[in-house]
Amino acid sequence: MTTSRATIWVNEPVLDGNEERYLVECIRSGWISSEGSFVRRLEEGFAARVGRKHGIAVCNGSVAIDTAIAALGLGPGDEVILPSFTIISCAAAIVRSGAVPILVDCEPDTCNTTAERIAKQITPQTKAVLIVHIYGLPVDMDPVLILARRHGLKIIEDAAEMHGQTYKGRPCGSLGDISTFSFYPNKLVTTGEGGMVLTDDPTLAERCRALRNLCFQPGKRFVHEDLGWNFRLSNLQAAVGVAQLERLDEFTDRKRWIGAYYSERLADIVGLQLPVPRTAYAENVYWVFGIVLEDSVPFDAAEAMRRLMARGIDTRPFFWPMHEQPVFRKMGLFADESHPNSERLARRGFYLPSGLALTEAQMDRVVAAVREIMC
Ligand SMILES: Cc1ncc(COP(=O)(O)O)c(C=O)c1O
Repeated sequence: MTTSRATIWVNEPVLDGNEERYLVECIRSGWISSEGSFVRRLEEGFAARVGRKHGIAVCNGSVAIDTAIAALGLGPGDEVILPSFTIISCAAAIVRSGAVPILVDCEPDTCNTTAERIAKQITPQTKAVLIVHIYGLPVDMDPVLILARRHGLKIIEDAAEMHGQTYKGRPCGSLGDISTFSFYPNKLVTTGEGGMVLTDDPTLAERCRALRNLCFQPGKRFVHEDLGWNFRLSNLQAAVGVAQLERLDEFTDRKRWIGAYYSERLADIVGLQLPVPRTAYAENVYWVFGIVLEDSVPFDAAEAMRRLMARGIDTRPFFWPMHEQPVFRKMGLFADESHPNSERLARRGFYLPSGLALTEAQMDRVVAAVREIMC
């Protein structure tokens, strides 16, 4: 582990529960592929935790979105609304399906989009909305669900960052027609690499299972009516996930404790916009502790991150907006679009070390370094 002057990494997971025991069990059983029983245990346990009927484990949170979009049958001619301020996986999945991504901006404080912004982009071609809950607070979902019902739109809920979080007491990931999670090591439940698609709809669930598994057909295994992918999660990965899931409540509490610890100690530093601790519908789970430099600060996030790295503090930039991605501009997408809040967050925002393994001494060092670079 880190000594007092060693670099404090942006994320270190906690793996000291049953992870090792279940991995050993898995190896001794010989069941290491996706056929093993830990995959089913993770699917059932995670679905139960999120309050959904079906969980389909996949090999990461990005392909979970591809799977959800393909299962809904979205494709050429369909418009799908999504936030510009998100990870590329969201827009990439829409573009790869042949559907048209339509971007909306986010709020400057919560980084989340709103029903009002979505409503302005609905056309007769709109078929779905890809909701992304960002950095620890959920999107205000009730107005989005009303809008979707009124216009007959499907909701894909990307809850990759929202393990353990709720919206008005309902679990994030239980709110859309289909939802997705990531199990990357910076998530509250990790499998190293991994993800899950969740739904209550048995037909959608069956379609996701087929798509994840190359659309092999029962009875006629190597005869294919459709094209799928190999997006399977291995039993080894699922074994780690089952152990992690056992501690989700503890991890959620710990994230909130980290958020409160930083918030209290950074509150008096001029020029910092700190995460919103709560909204009318949720307590921040502080998936990451993001800070935004106010306009009065004479340097940007990239410079702040450089200064912190020079002091042994590892950080990460905020998402870079989809409408400013060279790859999409080269495809002729989003030309001349502007989403000012997303643009500002990308340039002024970054996040501090936020992993579950952080100690008080490490956070004190982070706070001292932030104080130093802001002077
Ligand atoms: C909102 C969101 N969606 C999707 C993903 C992609 O997940 P993965 O890294 O497991 O592919 C992430 C990853 O952090 C994310 O934050």
